[in-house]
Amino acid sequence: MSNTVLSNAEEQGPVLVCSNVAKTYEEGPETVQVLSDVNLEVQPRQRLAIVGSSGSGKTTLLNILAGLDSPTSGSVLLQGEELSSLNETARARLRNRNLGFVYQFHHLLPEFSALENVAMPLLIRKELSVKEAQRRSVELLEQVGLGHRIKHRPAELSGGERQRVAIARALVGKPSLVLMDEPTGNLDPHTAEKVHEVLVALTQEVATSFIVVTHDMEFAKTMDDVYRLSEGSLALS
Ligand SMILES: Nc1ncnc2c1ncn2[C@@H]1O[C@H](COP(=O)(O)OP(=O)(O)O)[C@@H](O)[C@H]1O
Ligand SMILES: [Mg+2]
Repeated sequence: MSNTVLSNAEEQGPVLVCSNVAKTYEEGPETVQVLSDVNLEVQPRQRLAIVGSSGSGKTTLLNILAGLDSPTSGSVLLQGEELSSLNETARARLRNRNLGFVYQFHHLLPEFSALENVAMPLLIRKELSVKEAQRRSVELLEQVGLGHRIKHRPAELSGGERQRVAIARALVGKPSLVLMDEPTGNLDPHTAEKVHEVLVALTQEVATSFIVVTHDMEFAKTMDDVYRLSEGSLALS
């Protein structure tokens, strides 16, 4: 846990509780068990890394934690809500309010500027004026060191800059939890290092919990806890 003063959020209990999650895929006559018994509790502001070899089920797990895929058995509570008990609309709403995502590939919208891409989650929520959404988005872009690139489209940005825009977009809505799936997996080592620096600073600053899947052990160790996914379950590394 980070050594921050207890906030109101921390009195509300864990952001995420994942209990006895199993996941099997049917592949023709074969059943492949990817996850067998995953248990995890994430506290407000806790930052944790998940490492594990390729094919160990890290992406499958993140998709289940996000309610994008359902477990074969077990339960996932996000902000106290059992994901499997919600219909798709309610789950999408819970995701939009509580979760941010960063993937290996940025998934930015090519026709839109960095600023417009970052503002998108706020505009979908329809709670703020466009002006206020833009103000917050500029603030986030400045935090990731891209204050001078706000009007650029993804094609006019470098790989590292695009990932930083994706990070700003994941954080702009002040989610309670951000899930990152190998956020620097597609970058050269030098650029990855720069993005890690931004992430380390940012994850310490904002009042958000983080689960970061990474292959970079040095980066993983900058988080509060490091878990390893192996043989279908998670253990502190
Ligand atoms: N939709 C699917 N159908 C069948 N098998 C899948 C599916 N998605 C993933 N798998 C299998 O589950 C295992 C874990 O995949 P994944 O979660 O992507 O691992 P990781 O992200 O750790 O590399 C792999 O063996 C993969 O082939
Ligand atoms: Mg993966």
